[in-house]
Amino acid sequence: MYFIGVDLGTSAVKLLLMEEGGAIKKIVSREYPLYFPHSGWSEQNPEDWVSASMDGMKELTKELAEEGRMGELAGISFGGQMHGLVVLDEQDHVIRPAILWNDGRTTEETAYLNDVIGKETLSAYTANIAFPGFTAPKLLWMKKHEPERFDKIKKIMLPKDYLAYCLSGSFCTDVSDASGMLLMDVKNRCWSEEMLKICCITREQLPTIYESSEVVGTLKKSVADELSFPESVKIIAGAGDNAAAAVGTATVGDGACNISLGTSGTIFISSESFRVDQNNALHSFAHADGQYHLMGCMLSAASCNKWWNEEILKTSDFAAEQKGIQKLGENKVFFLPYLMGERSPHNDANVRAMFLGMSMDTTREEMTQAVLEGVSFGLRDSFEVAKELGVTPKRTKICGGGAKSPLWRRMIANILNLKVDIIESEEGPALGAAMLAAVGCGVYPDVKTIANQLVKVMDTVCPEPELVEKYESCYQRFKTLYPAVRGLYS
Ligand code: XUL
Repeated sequence: MYFIGVDLGTSAVKLLLMEEGGAIKKIVSREYPLYFPHSGWSEQNPEDWVSASMDGMKELTKELAEEGRMGELAGISFGGQMHGLVVLDEQDHVIRPAILWNDGRTTEETAYLNDVIGKETLSAYTANIAFPGFTAPKLLWMKKHEPERFDKIKKIMLPKDYLAYCLSGSFCTDVSDASGMLLMDVKNRCWSEEMLKICCITREQLPTIYESSEVVGTLKKSVADELSFPESVKIIAGAGDNAAAAVGTATVGDGACNISLGTSGTIFISSESFRVDQNNALHSFAHADGQYHLMGCMLSAASCNKWWNEEILKTSDFAAEQKGIQKLGENKVFFLPYLMGERSPHNDANVRAMFLGMSMDTTREEMTQAVLEGVSFGLRDSFEVAKELGVTPKRTKICGGGAKSPLWRRMIANILNLKVDIIESEEGPALGAAMLAAVGCGVYPDVKTIANQLVKVMDTVCPEPELVEKYESCYQRFKTLYPAVRGLYS
């Protein structure tokens, strides 16, 4: 049997074809545009996700078709960029472009939720507080700024759920992704009636919540025909991209950690019990393995390096830029990675990125180094919050585009003082999604079993005591920078 995992990302959709024993047969990706209509706003056209995914699936299964093995295709599942607001009208037309997870337009609505409704109340209803990228404040923004469009809303969805809807006709979501809407009672894995009232929406406008490995339907005939797939192909709920990546890196059970260096940067800690950090600086979400997780999310991670290389240095050879970097732990230059504002732990949509500490002898290499280090320090900020909660993992997995850089992995190991396990495939969300599909189709009994059975650690990057010490003093300096500059862009 074969399974397709779809990672609906921010810059591209990545599709992965997995055999039932876990071997990856093929990976295909298709890019789509990302729009920034104003500074700090971030939008995409849901139709682009669907056409790119359909096109990608045809390419992904080309050889299967040629070998006459399409009948062996059993299931499709998803890992999707989280929090995005997709709204459909009565005719199932998309009402406006999706407002994405890294969009910062809702500072007023976020402040209303946190200050007027109150953080304690929000936390009691949902286990989380409001952040500008979350879905609930976006609904309030639409109600205020686009009332006519708001009144037309018949269905509210997350990005991957729109894709699942187009493929299967099933109006569904999963526990991990729904956690990030600020509309779900995370502990009890159901919609929060109180939050629906606060956001002026009804239960009928929201999808049915499933566990991530549950089957939500099968392919629509028209879609099956277009793809030449059997109509029997099952659609499995899937997960938010971070939970899917956690499955794909075997970050399941209690106290396992995964760092994702994608457009966003996340530190994800799985947990067998439900818990909430006192200040809600970390998100407390349901996990795709049936339990829970804590997560810190930076809005710009590998995207800082991409921006620095492509927009500023005008190069696409990221590895060449990193070649000359030698003096780890001694850089005088700091980079604050807040290109889109910051989520965890600062919750500040207005702050912006900065370089600090340059002098006449500062080199290009030092600035590149500062970018990689700034992102690593940002992850450490969230890790510190987890430590305050008594969660102290000693090792982590790593995935995402940035995880391909040996230098960056070494920085993370030393800045967070964690052993970094390198796994066979860093295709986190796409692989995790294919694994969820295999569980949904009954090939494996549950998510933990498949993750522990299929994911193999190939190498480990260990912290080096001398570098850990040097980076500790750099981090102590880095920590003082955000409080010093936070007022500049408020
Ligand atoms: C997580 C988050 C990001 C997106 C990126 O809370 O906002 O990691 O899911 O796709």
